[in-house]
Amino acid sequence: DRVPVLTVDGPTASGKGTLGSALAERLGYHHLDSGALYRATALAALRQGVPAGDEAAVAAIARALPLRFENQQTLLAGEDVSDELRHEAVGSLASQIAALPAVRQALVELQLAFRRLPGLVADGRDMGTVIFPGAALKVFLTANSEQRASRRHKQLISKGISANIESLRADLEARDARDQHRSVAPLRPAEDARLLDNSALSVETSVDQVLDWWDAVQ
Ligand code: C5P
Repeated sequence: DRVPVLTVDGPTASGKGTLGSALAERLGYHHLDSGALYRATALAALRQGVPAGDEAAVAAIARALPLRFENQQTLLAGEDVSDELRHEAVGSLASQIAALPAVRQALVELQLAFRRLPGLVADGRDMGTVIFPGAALKVFLTANSEQRASRRHKQLISKGISANIESLRADLEARDARDQHRSVAPLRPAEDARLLDNSALSVETSVDQVLDWWDAVQ
């Protein structure tokens, strides 16, 4: 295929979103934040009172998700839900419904549609392993859970939301465990992925590293 794809997978709060959008900007490519699709499905299920255990009903929501990305905003049925999607309760429910095969299947086409010229940077858990296995470059981003909890803590504080760092860390670890041990599309590096541990790296340094790798595969 002529449309180049760069994937960034990794655990919760590893910095995939920040890295993915910075790379998309630097390359002038489209950006797929696949976690937002799972989060939006979770939010829509919450609002409609559909329990996370009702796989068919949640998959139906995912298949008909009225989601649009516009001017840095995520719109669900026309309403800006960008902030609400970041809530811990939504993230936690997203990770539960993401373990349901019918829900994952329902979101495949929507994700593939992001692959358009001039290119795509896709971030998530299974971008390199399942959705875009032919990607020219696959990055697997990690950071230790202490760093990730502390970054998440800073983000929340800056939004005026109080949070306990130890409970954030416990939540991250629980979500990682669920993502790694599920039977469909578990979180793991693709065999040909480049590992990048950004625990001690600035965003700029991580972006430059990935752009060096990207140049090398062109
Ligand atoms: O990356 P983010 O925290 O926004 O993702 C929310 C949840 O959606 C994750 O915990 C994960 O369970 C799920 N997810 C997934 N596959 C993706 C992206 C996200 O299973 N490609």
